Amino acid sequence: MSAHPQTKRVLSGMRPTGLLHLGNYHGALKNWAELQYQYECFFFVADWHALTTGYEDTTDLPRFTHDMLVDWLAAGLNPTVSTIFVQSLVPEHAELHLLLSMITPLGWLERVPTYKDQQAELADKDLTTYGFLGYPVLQSADILLYRPAFVPVGEDQVAHVEITREISRRFNHLYGRAPDFAEKAENAVAGLGGRHSSMYRQLRKKYQEDGDVPALEKGRALVESNTRLTVADRERLLGYLEGSSVSILPEPQALLTATPKVPGVDGRKMSKSYGNTIGLRESPDAVVKKLKTMTTDPARVRRTDPGDPDKCPVFDLHKIYSDAATQSWVQAGCRSASIGCLECKQPLIDRVVAEIEGMRQRAREFEENPDLVRNIVSEGCEKAREAARATLDEVRRAMHLRPDRQV
Ligand code: TRP
Ligand code: SF4
Repeated sequence: MSAHPQTKRVLSGMRPTGLLHLGNYHGALKNWAELQYQYECFFFVADWHALTTGYEDTTDLPRFTHDMLVDWLAAGLNPTVSTIFVQSLVPEHAELHLLLSMITPLGWLERVPTYKDQQAELADKDLTTYGFLGYPVLQSADILLYRPAFVPVGEDQVAHVEITREISRRFNHLYGRAPDFAEKAENAVAGLGGRHSSMYRQLRKKYQEDGDVPALEKGRALVESNTRLTVADRERLLGYLEGSSVSILPEPQALLTATPKVPGVDGRKMSKSYGNTIGLRESPDAVVKKLKTMTTDPARVRRTDPGDPDKCPVFDLHKIYSDAATQSWVQAGCRSASIGCLECKQPLIDRVVAEIEGMRQRAREFEENPDLVRNIVSEGCEKAREAARATLDEVRRAMHLRPDRQV
């Protein structure tokens, strides 16, 4: 645990779409690579989720998964601090998915905006399937299995984290009253140690007997500031402050990634489906060529026409890659037509090529030795399964699914 003095967890996943591009990097990966040094992080390839829309032809899945994993490593995910794994290799996701499906009302699923949107968007596919409707339940299982505090996602996934919170609330409401809860909570209170134990007891009493809300808040702060508690004990102590139920599956919070606009080479949002991407491991020659021909402000037809960086997708890339001085040089030079577009693009080209060169270098050892990737994943899966099993154990117990222990 040395790398993570904080016990708070972060979890996120991506569907395997194959080779990643700069949009994926600036929209998610770069943020993941930073989070891994602040929290205990779990990152996984959501290959079962890929099946919800791509069930007809699954031949690309292994390659897409492998390519994406190499790109993650190239982008700086560090398997010695993060747990990197593949969903379908952790069957616990399927079990929790099944159990959560029992308590999820159909109406909640039909109301998730991505449900109708995607059906309309992917009209050539038959998405009137059980699996597709259940997409958010599977995602909820992915998340709740690890009891993370935070789930870093883009705007498009916020609704899925929201339904995860609803499902967890419903679960805790239905099954949160484990019979041995009070006893375990009392043990955890004793474990706080002398002064903290009696402070906790006093605050709990004040809240429960007099409804003293500031006391509840102080109690929560007391628990939350204790970094030595296990996740389970922290949840127990928080639940016990208020009553006698526990949140077996704590509500996670979406961590909305502040994502810059990443335009593709045609000026539209960079996206695989538009064919306008710059790949994380593309050759420098290809990158230079793509950037040199990238769409600019359409008003700048001739070199002598002034342009407007605010209407130019190239400038959106400058905002990501260039310092303030370079950006003002672009602003002034473009508006006065004192620089040409190629000239404007040059510092950008240098930076993008350098960034991609770093990724290509990091990727090389994994490309040359696919066993390295396999080992990282199998170690990650083991670690993930350990965490997942601990949750499932509590879930099963809470739902009285321990027939072996009950007779
Ligand atoms: N639905 C996510 C996407 O399309 C991928 C995903 C699956 C995910 N399970 C998750 C993201 C759990 C965060 C947490 O991008
Ligand atoms: Fe865009 Fe730069 Fe050309 Fe202006 S000079 S239109 S910002 S590429």
